[in-house]
Amino acid sequence: MRILITGASGMLGRALAARLANGHSLLLWGRQEADLTDEGAVRDAARGIEFDAVVHAAAATDVDGCERDEEGALRVNRDGVRHMAALALERGAQLVTIGTDYVFDGTKTSPYEETDPTAPINAYGRTKLAGEVAALESGARALVVRTSWLFGPGGRNFVDTIAGKLERGDALQVVNDQRGSPTYTRDLAHGIARLLGRGATGIVHVTNRGEASWYEFAVAIGRFLGATAPIEPIPSSRMPRPAARPAYSVLSGTRYEALAGKPLPAWEEALHHYLTMRPRTAGAAT
Ligand SMILES: NC(=O)c1ccc[n+]([C@@H]2O[C@H](COP(=O)([O-])OP(=O)(O)OC[C@H]3O[C@@H](n4cnc5c(N)ncnc54)[C@H](OP(=O)(O)O)[C@@H]3O)[C@@H](O)[C@H]2O)c1
Repeated sequence: MRILITGASGMLGRALAARLANGHSLLLWGRQEADLTDEGAVRDAARGIEFDAVVHAAAATDVDGCERDEEGALRVNRDGVRHMAALALERGAQLVTIGTDYVFDGTKTSPYEETDPTAPINAYGRTKLAGEVAALESGARALVVRTSWLFGPGGRNFVDTIAGKLERGDALQVVNDQRGSPTYTRDLAHGIARLLGRGATGIVHVTNRGEASWYEFAVAIGRFLGATAPIEPIPSSRMPRPAARPAYSVLSGTRYEALAGKPLPAWEEALHHYLTMRPRTAGAAT
C-alpha cells in the first residue's frame, strides 16, 4: 500500500513511519510539506502523488495552548482533518485520523466504549471532536482511532519529564485524581497498522491495556529507574492549569480486540520497553 502520513515528525508520526515502512511505501508530510490548515497548500502538496491511505497524525496537541486559542486549535484539529478527508475522498483512499480520550467528560467509572456519548470539558477535546465529525461525515472511508496519554521517542511526554526530574533527584508532586491508559506510540502504531490492514472504519479505541493515575504512572517510572526521590500524590486542585482534564478517561479495548484479534500489551510492559530503549537525561545523577 502507498500511505501518506501527516505529522510525520511528531511523536506518533515517527512511530507510524517506522512501523508502516515495513511492507508499504510511505509519503511523509511534516509542516514544511504543507500547513494543513490551508486547503490550497494541501492540494499543491498532493499534486502528482498517489496513495491508497492517509494516516493523519498531525494535530494541535498542547492542551493548555488550545484552551488559550480555541480558534487556532479548530483550524488545525477540525479544518486540517476536513482537508485531508476531502483529499482521501477524491483519491478513493482510506483515511485514518487520530482522536483522543479527552472527548469524554470523565464522569464514568468504567472504561468508555466507542458508543458512549461525548462531552468534552476543554477546548482541545472540543476541537478534536469536531475533527472526528469532519472525518466521519466526509464521505471518505474513515477510521477514527481514539487513544490516550501517549509516550514514545521524539516528542514532549510525561515519561521523559518525570524520568528527567527523577534522574536529577528532584522531589515530585503528581496528581492522583485523573485516571487513564498510558499508551506507547510504538504499540499504537502497531495497532493502527493492524486496523488499516483490515480496512476498519468508524471509531475504535486503541490504548495499551490497563489504567493508572498520573501519580501511579510516575511511581512506576521511578520504580523501573530505581529512583529514590520522593513522589507525593496531590489532587488536581493543587496544580491549577488553564484547561480542565477529565477525572477518568480509560478507553475500552473491546472493539479493538475483536477487530485485531488481541489487545495491545499492558502499559507497564510498554513503559519498561521504552525506558530500556530511552537514552538517559544528559547530566543525570549517577
Ligand atoms: N500526545 C498525547 O498524549 C495524545 C493523546 C491522545 C490523542 N493524541 C492524538 O494523537 C495524534 C498524535 O499526537 P502526538 O502526541 O504525536 O503529537 P505531536 O508530537 O504534537 O505531533 C503533531 C504534529 O503535527 C504537526 N502539525 C501541527 N499543526 C500543523 C499544521 N497546521 N500543519 C502541518 N502539521 C502540523 C506538528 O508539527 P510542528 O512540530 O511543526 O508543530 C507535529 O509534528 C494527534 O492527533 C493527537 O491529538 C495524542
